[in-house]
Amino acid sequence: MRVLSVASECVPLVKTGGLADVVGALPAALAAEGVDMRVLLPGYRPVLAALPAAETLWQDDGFFGGSARLLRGTAGGVSLLVLDAPHLYDRPGGPYLDEAGQDWPDNDARFAALSWMAAQIGAEGAGDWRPDLVHCHDWQAGLAPLYLKARGVDLPSVMTVHNMAFRGLTAPDRLAALALPGWAFQPEGMEFYGQISALKAGLVYGWKVTTVSPTYARELASPEFGAGLDGVIRARGADVSGILNGIDEAMWNPATDPHIAPYKAPRGKAKVSAALAEEMGLPEGDGPLCVVVSRLSAQKGLDLLLDVLPRLVARGGRLAMLGSGDPGLEAAWRRAAEDYPGVAVRIGYDEALSHRMIAGGDAILVPSRFEPCGLTQLYGLRYGTVPVVARTGGLADTVIDANPAALAAGVATGVQFAPVTAEALATALDRLCDLYADAPTFQKIQRNGMRAPVGWGVSAAAYAALYREIARPR
Ligand code: ADP
Ligand code: GLC
Repeated sequence: MRVLSVASECVPLVKTGGLADVVGALPAALAAEGVDMRVLLPGYRPVLAALPAAETLWQDDGFFGGSARLLRGTAGGVSLLVLDAPHLYDRPGGPYLDEAGQDWPDNDARFAALSWMAAQIGAEGAGDWRPDLVHCHDWQAGLAPLYLKARGVDLPSVMTVHNMAFRGLTAPDRLAALALPGWAFQPEGMEFYGQISALKAGLVYGWKVTTVSPTYARELASPEFGAGLDGVIRARGADVSGILNGIDEAMWNPATDPHIAPYKAPRGKAKVSAALAEEMGLPEGDGPLCVVVSRLSAQKGLDLLLDVLPRLVARGGRLAMLGSGDPGLEAAWRRAAEDYPGVAVRIGYDEALSHRMIAGGDAILVPSRFEPCGLTQLYGLRYGTVPVVARTGGLADTVIDANPAALAAGVATGVQFAPVTAEALATALDRLCDLYADAPTFQKIQRNGMRAPVGWGVSAAAYAALYREIARPR
């Protein structure tokens, strides 16, 4: 079975969040299921720089207002197809934002072009490789099933929602520029309150729809989480399912992690925690050393954590926060670090520090308002760093709350709270401090987490089964 995976990010070449981790991990995970997966990516500068000897498979001089080539190469063990279109991707800045942090004004065309290329490969293949199915990730790939349909190509497709909050909206006068068929601009198609929604196109025309946890799949059918597209999710009924993300267990392994003094059992963390506290300039404390590694956006609920810092610090807790994003939140966190000696903040993106923090913490805090899956709580489990999470989306599905029943059964792996308010978070942190003070119980929770299945095994099999349900190898 050959599958073309289409996405705007992929580790190790380009990453702004968990999407890149997942897109980069799926090919190896699915190879074990007999799936030959190639990833179609935009030819951003770092992507092309990593593929100096790429082979050209296709080219066109009139492609979305410029010239384009399709390249084939390999990076980080992933077989890549790269859309090299300098007028769309050869720029400084990130995949979506310019250097000033503003959306590129032509993002609609940049990702329509990616999706068009996916349909082209679906229709005619890439060199001698022809996919049996196209797997689209988020709005950036959402138009691919529609382009396929518009060409009359009956190729199976899967649309995976990593975050419903990004709907890929653009004005209807862009129809022609994006080479989109007029018949699809209707409420049963890609129209969303008078605009074009690339994500909605994927939800409507994708043969199957998945999201990255069973709970988020259910939540998406509700107005609270559906971002206006809950009706589409409800209409797709049994075509929608949730398949949990896994993590790369080689990259996130406390016994072999090159960023830390490796350890196999919770007590081995002491050295790593002490090193982290020293690196971050944190004082000693009687309570848990908490860590956060996150984008700073409203989704992540970290404004609530700011509200409850006094209480955590009063209980002897300390906090190390690594994150970047919203300028207002960055400033508020910088102030918090000045206000409390027990709080240390690093604003920025730092892969190595993220490993040292996730390994060195006693607990990792994820108070998200919504969370399609979430990966850092999974890293936390693997490192014996107890997750304290909002009971939503994938957080609800991956952490077993230390309630009396779970403690009695010896299966607890963390702390959950709901609703997502400062009060409920404060109560959860109190519970964390109480558990931490009871060393045997806390260590049992850490050990349970370190044994919890967080790899790709079950989910890779679920994706492969879904592919087989709709595609027949040609
Ligand atoms: P999301 O994709 O919504 O940001 P996830 O939890 O799925 O949330 O994935 C976030 C990924 O980005 C994780 O791999 C996490 O370790 C990483 N990450 C987030 N912020 C930072 C940062 N400031 N420095 C290093 N890694 C980060
Ligand atoms: C999105 C979600 C996150 C998920 C990631 C990978 O960025 O916000 O919850 O883990 O995609 O699927």
